[in-house]
Amino acid sequence: MSLLITDIGELTTNDPDAGRLHDAALVVEEGRITWVGAARAAPASDHRVSLEGGALLPGWVDTHSHIVFAGDRSAEFEARMAGERYQAGGIAVTVAATRAAGTDELRATARALRAEAARGGTTFLETKTGYGLDIDSEVRSAQVAREVADTVTFLGAHVVPPGTDPRAYVDLVRGPMLQAVFPYVDAIDVFCEEGAFTVDQSREILIAGRDAGLDLRVHGNQLGPSGGVALAVELGARSVDHCNHLSDDDIAMLAASDTVATFLPACDLSTREPFGPARRLLDAGGTIALATNCNPGTSFTTSMPLCVATAVLQMHLTIEEAVFAATAAAARSLGRDDIGVVRVGARADLQSLRAPRASHLAYRPGVPLTDRVWKDGVETTGRGTP
Ligand code: NIG
Repeated sequence: MSLLITDIGELTTNDPDAGRLHDAALVVEEGRITWVGAARAAPASDHRVSLEGGALLPGWVDTHSHIVFAGDRSAEFEARMAGERYQAGGIAVTVAATRAAGTDELRATARALRAEAARGGTTFLETKTGYGLDIDSEVRSAQVAREVADTVTFLGAHVVPPGTDPRAYVDLVRGPMLQAVFPYVDAIDVFCEEGAFTVDQSREILIAGRDAGLDLRVHGNQLGPSGGVALAVELGARSVDHCNHLSDDDIAMLAASDTVATFLPACDLSTREPFGPARRLLDAGGTIALATNCNPGTSFTTSMPLCVATAVLQMHLTIEEAVFAATAAAARSLGRDDIGVVRVGARADLQSLRAPRASHLAYRPGVPLTDRVWKDGVETTGRGTP
């Protein structure tokens, strides 16, 4: 069955040959885009949806979240808003609550957040383990993550659990823990930061993951110049995430590499860290992505529109750059070129807005503009859903 989506006010394609189209239409068949062009030239189809002049763009690709957890950290958030600084130690609070929770509770929370993200236009979501930190709890987190997310990252190296010898823990993570979670995960990540893992510890763990065949991701340079960015580039990581504190050397290194720098503006708002220098990195020729970092400690939001609006309003990205970072560039950081883009052959992961242009995402910040969402050509949110 073919579906024609027509009367599109503005179509963001992220395809350099097509750019932004006006009065456009596209056809979806069997989960893929099969035709893109002017609405007046659209072919016949089995079904037809008119967007009545609304904007259409690729669904958001959220490449950084931690949605498998239990417990609440709003008291920690309140203390931060009263002047406390964020420290990695808060992670242990969520680890204790996650270990104590039943699997159904973890699954229900993760599913609810996944559904919330979908209603906001997210069609592809990464999530991580990292609130288990022992073999059984990490495996359980990875299994739940596999059920709810599109791609899963092993983050056994989130922090060293309190009372554990760091050397023994690094060996556990790169050895038996990695082996146990391996069937459920696609990538490995390390929180390379003061209070979490040193550069040398992070390197050992990432190399073990790489040797096992996993993609590499790094939490780096969030709270200071941690060395995480240099390590990510050295090891050819797909992404280094946070990037609040980048030196000129870091920027030059990233710009000359294939490692995507993922900025997490909602986390910066919630931790009152300075926004990362995304503008400078783009100007130097680097590739940047945007993600939510949804987690109960530093960024309790699934809203990619908030990240896009903040990147435009506060980090000086243009609307095209921010939308590209939250879709096509994010997909690149996952090694994908079939999502985050509107072109013939790409997956039909799409969202429409109750607005004529994508710029309304920043022009009308905080307004829920997501109208209809399609994943693999099936409408998951909007007027066409049951
Ligand atoms: O990406 N930075 C490390 N991990 C999460 C925070 C997790 C937490 O505090 O619970 C992050 O911000």
